[in-house]
Amino acid sequence: MNEYQDILVEKRDDRVGLIRLNRPKAMNALRPLLMDELWDALQAFDADPEVGAIVITGNERAFSAGADIGEMATMDPVKMLGSHLSERWHRIGRIRKPIIAAVSGYCLGGGCELALTCDMIVASETAQFGQPEINIGIMPGAGGTQRLARVLGKYLTMEMVLNDRRLSAQEALQHGLANRVAPVEVYLDEAIKLAASIAARAPVAVQLAKEAVNKAFEMTLEEGLQLEERLFYFLFATEDQKEGMRAFLEKRKPEFKGR
Ligand code: HXC
Repeated sequence: MNEYQDILVEKRDDRVGLIRLNRPKAMNALRPLLMDELWDALQAFDADPEVGAIVITGNERAFSAGADIGEMATMDPVKMLGSHLSERWHRIGRIRKPIIAAVSGYCLGGGCELALTCDMIVASETAQFGQPEINIGIMPGAGGTQRLARVLGKYLTMEMVLNDRRLSAQEALQHGLANRVAPVEVYLDEAIKLAASIAARAPVAVQLAKEAVNKAFEMTLEEGLQLEERLFYFLFATEDQKEGMRAFLEKRKPEFKGR
């Protein structure tokens, strides 16, 4: 694995690839270097057959307090355009394996938008979700207005984006912005356990199922149903489909190979 400056990366025996954002003194502010290292690590895990699911986490105090304000303070629109800053978030959607965000403490601005690019969110009891960009004269720029509105609906999203309304972990759970909430001592273990459980399943089916669910937010129902049907039929070309169904009929545990 490459040596990184802003992240720590660990490939675990349980088929989980773990990425920790590691700028603790800056509340894991997401400077371009960090986002590029994250992308590099995500691509490496995506290509590694020994990894079935990925967890992105920060530390107990902060998942991330957002894009690095110091690096944006003197920017102008043309420089912003040339920086491809937002694209550093958007491209995470191209990762095929499921990504779980393990969120504790501040999850703000671009940090919240990073969590929203993930497929599931496990929150610690101290997690706080927000889009505070309005306080510094800007607005969310990496998916916050679109993805939050799809999860929370219009009215709560408006409050968060226009008036810096923060959501506690319990509120996030209640509104569907988190899969589960766990005490701060164990939230990361919970996220890894969830990732390991998914990583033990038929890899191709997991990846295509992730794709189908995510497309529900981009396609009409008719298009989405068509995509689902094709992907579903495609899985009948895999050895894992044969193995999975044979194992069921023989009343034994399947051994999936990712083929
Ligand atoms: C750069 C940041 C930072 C950020 C915190 N720090 N957030 N640096 N960018 N987003 C730094 C502080 O400057 C400080 O550095 C150190 O982290 C600790 O932060 P404090 O403010 O001293 O801690 P605390 O008082 O506990 O407050 C924590 C906080 C606050 C509530 C998270 O730092 C805060 O409000 N941060 C900004 C949140 C925000 O506005 N995020 C949106 C950014 S815009 P020093 O050197 O002084 O110790 C964005 C757009 C995304 O995300 C679009 C992408 C395309």
